[in-house]
Parts: sequence; C-alpha cells; structure tokens
Amino acid sequence: MTAMQNVAIASHYAVHLPAPDDFAAWRERARGLVQCDVPPDRVSWIEPGGTGDLFAVEGPARREKRLPVPPADAPSVRASKRFLEVAKSAALHSDPARFGLLYRVLWRLQRFPRLMEDKADPDVRRLEELAKAVRRDAHKMHAFVRFREVEEEDGTPHFVAWFEPDHHIIRAEAAFFMRRFANMRWSILTPRGSIHWDGETMREGPPARRSDAPSGDPVEDLWRSYYAAIFNPARLKVAAMLSEMPKKYWKNLPEAELIPQLIAGAQAREAQMVSSGSLDRGERPATLEGIDTAIHACRMCPIGELDNRAVMGEGALGAPLMIVGEQPGDHEDRAGRPFVGPAGQLLGEYLERAGIDRSQAYVTNAVKHFKFVWKGKRRLHQSPGAKEIDTCRWWLEAERNLVQPRLVLALGASAARGLLGKTVSITKARGQPMRLEDGTELWITAHPSYLLRLEGEAREEQARLFAADLAAVRERLRELAR
Ligand code: URA
Repeated sequence: MTAMQNVAIASHYAVHLPAPDDFAAWRERARGLVQCDVPPDRVSWIEPGGTGDLFAVEGPARREKRLPVPPADAPSVRASKRFLEVAKSAALHSDPARFGLLYRVLWRLQRFPRLMEDKADPDVRRLEELAKAVRRDAHKMHAFVRFREVEEEDGTPHFVAWFEPDHHIIRAEAAFFMRRFANMRWSILTPRGSIHWDGETMREGPPARRSDAPSGDPVEDLWRSYYAAIFNPARLKVAAMLSEMPKKYWKNLPEAELIPQLIAGAQAREAQMVSSGSLDRGERPATLEGIDTAIHACRMCPIGELDNRAVMGEGALGAPLMIVGEQPGDHEDRAGRPFVGPAGQLLGEYLERAGIDRSQAYVTNAVKHFKFVWKGKRRLHQSPGAKEIDTCRWWLEAERNLVQPRLVLALGASAARGLLGKTVSITKARGQPMRLEDGTELWITAHPSYLLRLEGEAREEQARLFAADLAAVRERLRELAR
C-alpha cells in the first residue's frame, strides 16, 4: 500500500478559495489533496461569490470541512513544467469549472506524467483552450486600455482607464502596466475590480462601473493622431482588424471613431504609398511628450509586443549633441530611461574623461523597445534586425527634428543604421564626420557594450579608439559652438 492509499477518503470536500484568481491557494490545497489521494469527483472548488464547479454537489459537502492532512511520508506531487505554465493562465479563466479541471489533470498527472503531451485528451485540450483565451484577454488589455487624464486635488495628473476583461486577469496584468507606465499615477477600473498605481505602490480596489471612469480629454486627441499616424493602409484587412480589435472594445477607444473614415481613405493612401515607394505614417507628433506617448503604443514591429515598455530619449530641445544607442537594455526598460545600466555607466565615464557633459546632451536609442528572449527568469538581449531599426527610424527622426542637435553621435552599427537608413562598417566610418540627409553632422563610433565584452589587449585597443573618437567629437562641438 502506498502512503497515498493509507489515507482513506470517504468524504466530499468543498474547498473555498480566497479569490477567483488565486492560483497559489488552489495549488497549495490541490497538492495536499493529491497527496491524500482524494479523487477529483470528491472535491468541489468554490470561489468567492461563486457556486463552485460543475461537479459541485449540493448539501453537506458544500460546507467547509477541514481538509485531510497528508502523511509525513507522502510522495511529492508531480506536475510537469508545461502543466504549471498552462495551469497558471487557465486558473484566471472565468469558467467556474476551471479549478475542478485543473485538479483532475493534476490528479491524472500522478498516474500519467506525460499526460500534457496528449493533445487529443479532452481535459488537456480544454485546459489549453482556457489558457489561450486568458492570454488573448491579456493581450487585448495591453492593447486597448486607454487612459483619460483627470486632475487630483493637489493638481497632479491622474490617468484613469476603463476596461472590461472577460477573465480574472487584472491582478496578473498589473505588473505589465506598472512597468510600462511606471512614472504615471494611474487607475484601471473594471467590473471585476480595480488597480491603482501612485508611482510607488499598487493598491487594489472594488469593482467599478463604467460611469466611475471619466471620458474624453486631450489624451484622446493624442491617441487619435497617433492612431491615424500609424495606420498603414497597405496592411488593411478589415476582417483581420475586426478580429484583433473586436467591436466590443471600440466604445473605449478614441481612435475607433476614425476607423470608418480611415478605411474609406485607405485605397487612396495605399495608391500614394505605392507610387512614392514610402511607408506613409502621416504626421509626426509635434512634441517630445507626444512622441513619448506614441512610442508606448507603437506596434509597428513585433518588439513592442514583448513584455517591455518604450524608453524615450532624455535631454533638452536644442541640445547641441544627440547621442544615439541601439536599444534600451534590461536596466533601461525597468528604469524607463536610456543608458542607465552598465553600458550607460561606461559611456558616462568616457564622456566625462573626454570633457563632454552628458547632462547637456540628448541621449536616445535607434529602437525604442527592448528586444529580448527569456532564459529562465532572465531577459537576454537580442539585437534588433535591420527591418526593426528601419521601422523605428520614424521615431528617431521625429526626435531629431524636434531636438535639432548640431552634431549626432551614433554608438554602434544599429544606431548608425537608424540614422542613415543603411548599414555602414564602424571600422571604416569612425573618426571622420559624415552628413545626414538634412546636413546635420554625424559621427560614428563603437557601442560601449562592445568594450564591455572584450578583455585584455583587445579591450585596451578599443578603449583607446573610443576615447579618441569622443575627444574628436568634443573638439568638433567646440568648433561648432563658435
Ligand atoms: N544600450 C543601448 O544601446 N542603449 C541603452 O539605452 C542602453 C544600453
């Protein structure tokens, strides 16, 4: 007899979960029940205010009863990585039967450890379907939350959004919005609960009504002009667009009222694009703040779809020097500021040694979002592709047009491509000025992270070249200032 079989279970258990999205609580209770070998048809999972799952029984079993305690020698519970991945998402689905299904699969996994690989199994199929629906809901939340600005009593702006999720995703998605809008005070109100961020702490609040959220303000104009700017008629497929942006969400989206007119004008714009050979994205935002807002929503390339946030350039209009890097890294993505990680620190040291005051420069990147792949819990940098750099050129040019620097310094090949629209060799291009299309002087040097990757003599040699390039830039800036 196994330790599991030692615990004789004759009863039915009603397990009350503290919250409808509390996967950790489900997991803890489910593990204990599995260790006591309680079959799935002897457990009902009940969420607050809920009626339990389809297997719930009426009467005494629905009353809370102490759950059995697993024996000390109970074997550990087996749960494959895939199961845990899918289960975490599926637990957030609004289907009241989800926790029962999760338990049934966990229980079966003890007998068939490779169950999750059986794509024809109805339980596995249903679990995957639930997880997919939750991921889709989260994707919609990322894409369709629109903030309206309201003023707090002390005059500080507070951004409030209304959203109607299909599933219990708000708490799970709070971290995404916290990272993306770290410096704003915001609230997302939903019929399932609300979350509030004050720039430092996250608070949860009760469910809200649509009328609790404001409607209509200048932020919407920004969204509207942004949406018109990124609307690419050559890509227009009405059916696909409606499935990506279901009409259900239109009422919250200021840009939705533009859709009929954009669709109507699409053919003409497409013809114009074809004849000019250009990617016509309309007017660029007229302020740095406008660009900042717009890049946060930019999905013109897939990098913006990752779990990251756009990082805007930093510095003043009229700064004489514009420094352009490749893309924000992990540190920059977290801080929401360019060049604050190890490469940024190295850059700062070399600028200081060269006599260039970083605080007087405008510092930005060729690509505005951090491109990475997950390796366990770490996000590993991936270089942006030429197409991604070219797509993001739109924003870099918008920044440069507004800042109007006298001299632009490109750090590395991606930055050079972002500025020139073509690939150049750093070895050949460094040390002498080039001209951008509008005549602005461009200097190209290596990226500081290149130095960080080198060791010994190679590093010394590159460090010397880098310092010499910066010294030449400092001299040229002095000449241009005269
Ligand atoms: N590397 C870059 O190119 N840019 C940053 O902002 C940080 C690291």
